[in-house]
Amino acid sequence: MTDAAAASDDLMEKVVRLCRHRGFIFPSADIYGGFRSTYDYGPLGVNMLRNVKNAWWRSMVQLRDDVVGLDAAILSPPDVWKASGHLATFTDPLVDCRNCHERWREDKIDGVCPNCGSHDLTEARAFNLMFKTHAGPVEDEGHVAYLRPETAQGMFVNFANVLGTTRKKPPFGIAQVGKSFRNEITPQNFVFRTREFEQMEMEYFVPPGESQEWFDYWLTERFAWYLDLGIPEEKLRLRHHETSELSHYSRGTADVEFLFPWGWDELEGIANRGDFDLLAHAAASGEKLDFFDPGTNERYVPHVVEPAAGATRTMMAFLIAAYHEDEVAGEPRNVLRLHWRLAPYQVAVLPLSKKEPLEPFARQVLARLQPHFMCDYDTTQGIGKRYRRQDEVGTPWCVTVDFESLDDDAVTVRDRDTTEQVRVPIGDLVSELRRRTGEMSP
Ligand code: GAP
Repeated sequence: MTDAAAASDDLMEKVVRLCRHRGFIFPSADIYGGFRSTYDYGPLGVNMLRNVKNAWWRSMVQLRDDVVGLDAAILSPPDVWKASGHLATFTDPLVDCRNCHERWREDKIDGVCPNCGSHDLTEARAFNLMFKTHAGPVEDEGHVAYLRPETAQGMFVNFANVLGTTRKKPPFGIAQVGKSFRNEITPQNFVFRTREFEQMEMEYFVPPGESQEWFDYWLTERFAWYLDLGIPEEKLRLRHHETSELSHYSRGTADVEFLFPWGWDELEGIANRGDFDLLAHAAASGEKLDFFDPGTNERYVPHVVEPAAGATRTMMAFLIAAYHEDEVAGEPRNVLRLHWRLAPYQVAVLPLSKKEPLEPFARQVLARLQPHFMCDYDTTQGIGKRYRRQDEVGTPWCVTVDFESLDDDAVTVRDRDTTEQVRVPIGDLVSELRRRTGEMSP
């Protein structure tokens, strides 16, 4: 193994260990030995994952007047997946190793079983990735339902509902964040590819002649989102798909890729889906899924540009990009240099003593901050150790309450990245921290 490969494995191992030991991500059903490829998000992970999704929602919905939200059902009838093409084509090529009986995705293994090295593999057969279940107590064909493998179809199926209730007109988008399920043959690389995961998708409906222009627009916007939230430019790239790689619905796709420890891999796909989806659902449902423009007296089926990102996968990329080891006053430390918007806690309040009168005083400081920031409160062990713990989970600012605070009504604010400490009057604390985020004062 080369030094670079060893360092990458090492980084991955360190991030996975940190996630487990600091309460970001646990193996699911841990006390029963885990359940392959499923994970539970712990106290810190749930905050961070929520922050990733909120940052996406803020940029895609809150800060725009042309995108609205949706939260569609996860369970859906076969009709949806027949029309979308998923029942027929959402498959991976599955092969069995005749020697050790492991199963693999043929396109990922170069004709050799990664488990035993045998070349004796079966012919590939198409394996549908959708999870099938039954709605209600009768387990027959008439009651089949699917767990959605993507959130996108919810937007197409609700196109007429949204158009009719919001008075939006193309170009406009419908955004959704939520769980999706794929029965992946080879889930791998921690939460990179799992069977249950979260997506952040937006379907942007445009006049047919404008799809290329909007495709280019969304490539730029989405690339900038990752940069703005702290992924270094050298770890991010756009890769345009070859025609042979395109999904059944796509007229053009580009991926935003991140340099993971194992190499470049996908964070998000941006696709020009043309009119495939609306035409398919209109034909299958018999409903009109088009737009009448009273300005031009024209009726048309909008084309769709789709930025489709993974929330859980993106959270992992943010963690990997943020992980650093450095030295503070000659002591080694692990630090997550997370953007404040993504950090599980923005502020930690740390009283120097856990006894009266400092403890109740520190709790008042905490109560002042809590409406504005997600805060941790830690009274255990020495202050140096507490700083290290907060650095390791990415808390950008520590607020230390000491005995002087009782007299001068001020606290020490410590910056995670510079470790610089300054005294701030408690009355100015919220606005000072807001200033540091770059946001307006409340
Ligand atoms: N509607 C289009 C669509 O679903 P996709 O490229 O299959 O496109 C979009 O999925 C994103 O969802 C991917 O870029 C990835 O971030 C995330 N994703 C897909 N499958 C995943 C899995 N098994 N585990 C974790 N994330 C996944």
